[in-house]
Amino acid sequence: MQFQVPKGTYDILPCGEVEPWMNSGLWQLVEGTARDICRDYGYKEIRTPIYERTELFDRGIGETTDIVSKEMFTFLDKGGRSISLRPEGTAAVMRSFIENQLNQHGSSHKLFYIAPMFRYERPQAGRYRQHHQFGIEAIGVLGPEQDAEVIDLLCEFLRRLGLKNFKAQINTLGDKESRESFRQALIDFLRPHFTDLSEDSQIRFEKNPLRILDSKDPKDQEILQKAPSILTHLTPESKAHFQTVCKLLDSTQVPYIINDRIIRGLDYYTKTVFEIIVDDSALKVSLGGGGRYDGLLKTFGGPDLPSCGFGSGLERILQTMLHQKAHTELGKGPFLTFIPLGDEARELCFSLATALRHDQIPTEIDLLSKKLPTAFQQADRQRAAYAAILGTEEMKKEKIQWKNLATREQREISLAHFLEEVRSLWKLSR
Ligand code: HAM
Repeated sequence: MQFQVPKGTYDILPCGEVEPWMNSGLWQLVEGTARDICRDYGYKEIRTPIYERTELFDRGIGETTDIVSKEMFTFLDKGGRSISLRPEGTAAVMRSFIENQLNQHGSSHKLFYIAPMFRYERPQAGRYRQHHQFGIEAIGVLGPEQDAEVIDLLCEFLRRLGLKNFKAQINTLGDKESRESFRQALIDFLRPHFTDLSEDSQIRFEKNPLRILDSKDPKDQEILQKAPSILTHLTPESKAHFQTVCKLLDSTQVPYIINDRIIRGLDYYTKTVFEIIVDDSALKVSLGGGGRYDGLLKTFGGPDLPSCGFGSGLERILQTMLHQKAHTELGKGPFLTFIPLGDEARELCFSLATALRHDQIPTEIDLLSKKLPTAFQQADRQRAAYAAILGTEEMKKEKIQWKNLATREQREISLAHFLEEVRSLWKLSR
């Protein structure tokens, strides 16, 4: 019996032959860019377990959201506790922040993660049951500068990856008072349409009417076209916060539009929310989204600190990079590949390769090819810069053939000076 990868998941492979975006070199490039940008903006890494108590997500994300009501991988552990694979990063970061009393280590906390998330979704383009997010959570700052920093960081990440034609769609959900007033207006608007709403939305009407705005049902969508806008229900304080976020974004290179229909699929948001959409992609999906969630830490019994963040889907970003022929050049291969021909040469090449590796010079050794043309093909596939060929003839002459694989130029180096010469060539190449 042959096993297959579980439905909605995939392997990240050292080659790009199955699907170019599954190439681990490209993943390293994207993850490396995320790490670099976090260094530039002052965010530090946090890692939490891939599973948590189910209740954390029920309470954090909201029981009436699709994520919690339909998409969680939930099971009982051997102790009878309900456990769920994390569908998103924010709730777990809040749990960790409180449990580890991170608030005692300063007043502003800027955290990032690159981690797999699990959602039992119907597999389709851009939707996986295990996907990966680069996310940030900034805890402690109430001012609109924080919201603008978070949105700018995500856009700068996409720009550094060479992506084009993306736009932030931003909205505000206001403070509690604004949402209460909007909630009532929405109920008044929807009540005459109640029987025409989808079954899910009828349930949400009672429990959490704002969730109806997130419905994907075409009939709900049609009814919602004439729904009131949150923007006309903002308190003066919420309005001023949103206006300043927009003003700050005007001063950055962030391309954005205001879309009062964006409410996001998780219940914890307050004030600013946003999604990044690509215009020209065949995939009409969000590359990332987030916003402010000021009350969440307190809900979990933690300090009353304001917070703001985003999560971005790395699969979708990689697929868009390839679609747009963006910057997908892979890192360099080894500096040199040894090609030993014969047992004696293999032994000598092994010890030379080991010495160079201990000097931190990326070195490969071809232990399989029997013929030179195959060995060169293999070295080219690895994207090696040089090949060092050692056969019986060279052993006798105490020389090694040194070939530049880009120019195909070849010369001899004496074995006695070989290590020294490679070390200085390596230094020169950096
Ligand atoms: P989210 O919008 O649910 O937000 O997910 C963030 C991003 O993850 C999406 O924009 C999308 O790019 C990607 N994504 C989500 N589900 C899938 C899937 N099934 N397959 C592939 N990609 C997917 C959150 O998770 C929030 N925790 C973000 C946040 C952080 N808000 C504040 N802080």
